[in-house]
Amino acid sequence: MTDQHPIRAGALLSIDLDALCDNWRSLKAKLASAECAAVVKADAYGLGAERVAPALYRAGCRNFFVAHLNEGIALRPALPADASIYVLHGPHPGDEREFVHHRLVPVLNSLPQLGAWQALARDLDTVLPAILQVDTGMARLGLAPDEFDRLVSSPASLLGLSLKFIISHLASAEDQDNPANPLQLARFREAMARLPGVPGSLANSSGIFLGDDYHFNLVRPGAALYGVAPVAGQANPMRPVIRLQGKVLQTRTIAAGTAVGYSHTWTAPRPSRIATVAVGYADGYLRSLSNRGTLSCDGIPLPLIGNISMDTLIVDITDLPEGRITEGELLDLADPLNGVDAIAARAGTIGYEILTSLGRRYARRYLGEF
Ligand SMILES: Cc1ncc(COP(=O)(O)O)c(C=O)c1O
Repeated sequence: MTDQHPIRAGALLSIDLDALCDNWRSLKAKLASAECAAVVKADAYGLGAERVAPALYRAGCRNFFVAHLNEGIALRPALPADASIYVLHGPHPGDEREFVHHRLVPVLNSLPQLGAWQALARDLDTVLPAILQVDTGMARLGLAPDEFDRLVSSPASLLGLSLKFIISHLASAEDQDNPANPLQLARFREAMARLPGVPGSLANSSGIFLGDDYHFNLVRPGAALYGVAPVAGQANPMRPVIRLQGKVLQTRTIAAGTAVGYSHTWTAPRPSRIATVAVGYADGYLRSLSNRGTLSCDGIPLPLIGNISMDTLIVDITDLPEGRITEGELLDLADPLNGVDAIAARAGTIGYEILTSLGRRYARRYLGEF
């Protein structure tokens, strides 16, 4: 499809905010009483946190998670004051006052982080909000079981803190039969029982699909909001959120036996028509898709041929009617028929990496919502 809007970039990334908000609503509809947050770290998985988060706020979301302090600082002005922004990595030593200044709530992952946050509460003679993360079996972030034990055994250890949530993160939630899931659930329940009255949060996108037991008081979806399939091996219930279209720079007709692209990794088996598209690995279109990717036009798949270059890739358009593709035409690189999970499978990665690699060079268009 040729887009109506002229674009000066090599590709057009369309982000459907209605689909995004529908995804949030459909996840929320799976919850009996838990609240549904939104994880908008890494610039909302590459889709633009400053557009994504306000759209979700208008859909009803009030709890947002980012990874780094600077992501929280950038997001704060984009959201009304009653939106909570939680910073998953918590403060680095010396950063604590910035959290207070920007009204960001840290996730405390270690005893030293906790101590520094309490020290600030003492200095300011106040009580400071925080989330406490415990490790229930991922060995990544959060208090180890013995540290948590020490913490809850000493009554003074939480002075100065207003604990909004105790959280943990599931390692294998997309694999519904993985025994790590019930094990983490049991450990999380034990941890919650030792902090009576503190609300809990365990589930990411996939965790929501493990059932009510995993929902507690707040769920924290990221990927599913952006259209990534939450359950391995099952049909994707989420709406696709992105469409990526690359601009044709040139077409040519080549004889059978003509080698194409860097290192000549593809040779035409027949007389072929090919098109060069202005998207390359510098745009986050992974080079591992060389000779594996698929583009499309009018729903007809077009194989990506040869190695992907920095700014270009080449497709075989022989199967399209002659004259269908001319310079400036937009070909689909990602669309509902060829979604992020399908692209990821061909690239040997996960949908998350496809999304977060999306290039900053693309022209961006936000659809819907208004
Ligand atoms: C602590 C935490 N919670 C929630 C999420 C969201 O996970 P997902 O994108 O799988 O829904 C992440 C993302 O990695 C995370 O690190």
